[in-house]
Amino acid sequence: MRVRLKGDAICTLLLLVALCSLLYSQLEHLVPVGNKEPTKKQPSVTAKILSAPRAPWRPMPAEATVLKPHVTPVIRQTEAANNKVTTTTRPPLTDSAFNFKRYLLNKDNRNFNLLINQPKKCRKTPGGPFLLIAIKSVVEDFDRREIVRKTWGKEGLVNGEQIQRVFLLGTPKNRTVLATWETLIHQESQTYRDILLWDFMDTFFNLTLKEIHFLNWAAEFCHNVKFIFKGDADVFVNVENIVDFLERHDPTEDLFVGDIIYNARPIRVQKSKYYIPETMYGLSIYPAYAGGGGFLLSSHTMKKLSKACREVELFPIDDVFLGMCLQRINLKPILHEGFKTFGIVKPSAAPHLQTFDPCFYKDLMVVHSLKVAEIWLMWNLLHSPRLSCTQKKQVKKPFQWKKKAQITPQASPLS
Ligand SMILES: *[C@@H]1O[C@H](CO)[C@@H](O)[C@H](O)[C@H]1NC(C)=O
Ligand SMILES: *[C@@H]1O[C@H](CO)[C@@H](O)[C@H](O)[C@H]1NC(C)=O
Repeated sequence: MRVRLKGDAICTLLLLVALCSLLYSQLEHLVPVGNKEPTKKQPSVTAKILSAPRAPWRPMPAEATVLKPHVTPVIRQTEAANNKVTTTTRPPLTDSAFNFKRYLLNKDNRNFNLLINQPKKCRKTPGGPFLLIAIKSVVEDFDRREIVRKTWGKEGLVNGEQIQRVFLLGTPKNRTVLATWETLIHQESQTYRDILLWDFMDTFFNLTLKEIHFLNWAAEFCHNVKFIFKGDADVFVNVENIVDFLERHDPTEDLFVGDIIYNARPIRVQKSKYYIPETMYGLSIYPAYAGGGGFLLSSHTMKKLSKACREVELFPIDDVFLGMCLQRINLKPILHEGFKTFGIVKPSAAPHLQTFDPCFYKDLMVVHSLKVAEIWLMWNLLHSPRLSCTQKKQVKKPFQWKKKAQITPQASPLS
């Protein structure tokens, strides 16, 4: 009996101790919870950065633009250095080579000064030029501009229609690559009168700014143009074909033609150059847009787009951004077979086929991704009086070493 009572007492005591320690631990837990609460909320800083600071940016976009040029050079260099570090040392989390947070923060800063203008570009011809060729270029690519000027981008008459040309440039990203860039660009502008230079950094993700600024420029300084071709400097353009095509269209009606890409999905792979996080574009499909090489539009469409794009939020991929502007004005871009955005791929099954055949290019409008020498060669071959594409193309045999005696001049692929 005694033993039992003792045991009961010990049990009660143990239970009490357990209860007390439980209560104590609960109490101890309760206090830090109160303290931890604010720290737990901190991970949402990302969300804050994305939404909150927009307000102070908006009211003064004009002032910001004016201030920019003086402040940026120093910031840019460190920024570029930082980016380099992130890409090489540690795997980036939210920003690969591109800082989306910064982009979203700066999104409302979209008006930059025109540093070099060609205000008379479209006033030379009474009634305005038939076609304005606008070529995206970067300051460093002097040789590309030269070859375009000498070949398909020549100003003057094609099939009796007036052609004018401008190059679209921003300020160089790395000013040490070409220290004389300012002198060069001013000299080029004086010599050729075809330079438009804006005061934003010429980077891949700023091409959207180039798009907006060009459309605004065209609406203001080239409203009397009939059609516009806008493209890259690494393309070959068959201007004769384009003029021929455009002569069958009305510049006062809507027209947007190119290598149109339908139902493209945003790339969610962070390593990709075209990576777009869901925070930036939530839908699973992009609107129809014209692929890189170039596209054609009428004067009427240019004016509508220039307005519409002002109301579309900046998006870092310029092609897609323009697709968004097109969607806004409810205009369906037209796919044309003559636009080969990705160049002509040599068929691997038949490597002996001459893809670099001027007759092949004769029916095309735009071919993408060409070297300077290829552009020069193609233009010269196409404009050679010897060119005759009426007969069927000769399919050359696969290359093989021949005995010396059998080598003849006809073996030249250019004949
Ligand atoms: C700029 O280009 C030069 C020469 O190509 C290079 O040495 C330098 O590291 C570059 N600077 C930046 C900030 O990328
Ligand atoms: C675009 O240009 C502006 C102005 O030069 C610059 O501040 C910004 O960093 C550039 N953006 C990108 C994504 O390169």
